Amino acid sequence: MNDRISFGAVTVGTSSLGGRTDRGPAEEVATAKAVLGGPFALVDTSNAYAAGRSEEILGRARAELGDAATAHIMTKVDSDPETGVLDRDRVLRSFDESMARLGVDGVGILHLHDPYTITVSEALAPGGAIEGMLELRDSGAVAAIGIAAGPIPLMRSYVQTGVFDALLTHNRYTLVDRSAVPLLEEARRRGMTTFNAAPFGGGILATGARSGATYAYRPASTTLVDWVAGVERACSELGVSLRAAALHFSMRSPLVDSTVVGISSAQRLRELEELTATEIPDRLWASIDACGPAPSTDEDEDE
Ligand SMILES: NC(=O)c1ccc[n+]([C@@H]2O[C@H](COP(=O)([O-])OP(=O)(O)OC[C@H]3O[C@@H](n4cnc5c(N)ncnc54)[C@H](OP(=O)(O)O)[C@@H]3O)[C@@H](O)[C@H]2O)c1
Repeated sequence: MNDRISFGAVTVGTSSLGGRTDRGPAEEVATAKAVLGGPFALVDTSNAYAAGRSEEILGRARAELGDAATAHIMTKVDSDPETGVLDRDRVLRSFDESMARLGVDGVGILHLHDPYTITVSEALAPGGAIEGMLELRDSGAVAAIGIAAGPIPLMRSYVQTGVFDALLTHNRYTLVDRSAVPLLEEARRRGMTTFNAAPFGGGILATGARSGATYAYRPASTTLVDWVAGVERACSELGVSLRAAALHFSMRSPLVDSTVVGISSAQRLRELEELTATEIPDRLWASIDACGPAPSTDEDEDE
């Protein structure tokens, strides 16, 4: 990849920035400033997060920080929120909207995000979304293009187009769900940069086993809650938090270049920094394996 792209083992995700009713704008900007001036080199957002508010808040924080903003931002193009259109023209419009909100001219990495309103053939057709992505890369406005989405079969089809430099998978390479392994291996063979998002499954691997826990944005089944409780016990016997185990599971993998963790406050950012520095005894992984496979979360069977 090009030298305009820099990232570390952890990338900060901002999908919740601007979308929480319990946070005022000043607190949101303070979170974004902590993120952009903080210890992690790359911040992930998208055109669609909180209907553009995530990018707007990052842009405001960037302007207020000036030179103290050290982190780079990667963003994603999204379908038109009203019509669902995701073609070449929409890609270019989405990119322009993002650049205006962020107050930048370009980004190192731009992903095609959740292309669920189009088929891969439509994306590849003349005038399709991929044409727009390639135009942006050819123009130099972005250094690298990626595909960021959920379902593995869809991700595999996009990877196999051979046009993308990076991929971002989510909720499918965690303590609970390893279904992204073949996809990540294929990306490795192709020399793509790999981002693994949502190492806590967006919930239960951070909160721990409790009623109301979620995995991949859906209620966790009782069997999954029980399984996570077993893993939590295995972790605590070795003095490790479930959260640290979940994060390091992804961070230690040779299949993952950077793990994308969702951050909702400056406090969570400090916690994340501590978690990344946690020492994990090697024998933890065998203890977790001894809990047996997690119950299926059926992610891609329903999609
Ligand atoms: N299609 C895509 O491109 C795609 C899809 C999914 C994710 N992503 C990216 O990946 C990022 C990470 O995904 P994610 O945020 O969904 O999942 P995640 O990183 O697995 O989990 C974040 C969740 O963990 C919770 N958490 C963290 N520390 C906690 C603690 N100490 N106690 C209790 N809860 C704690 C957070 O709760 P609080 O809210 O209370 O802090 C948050 O809800 C996103 O922000 C986004 O940038 C991209």
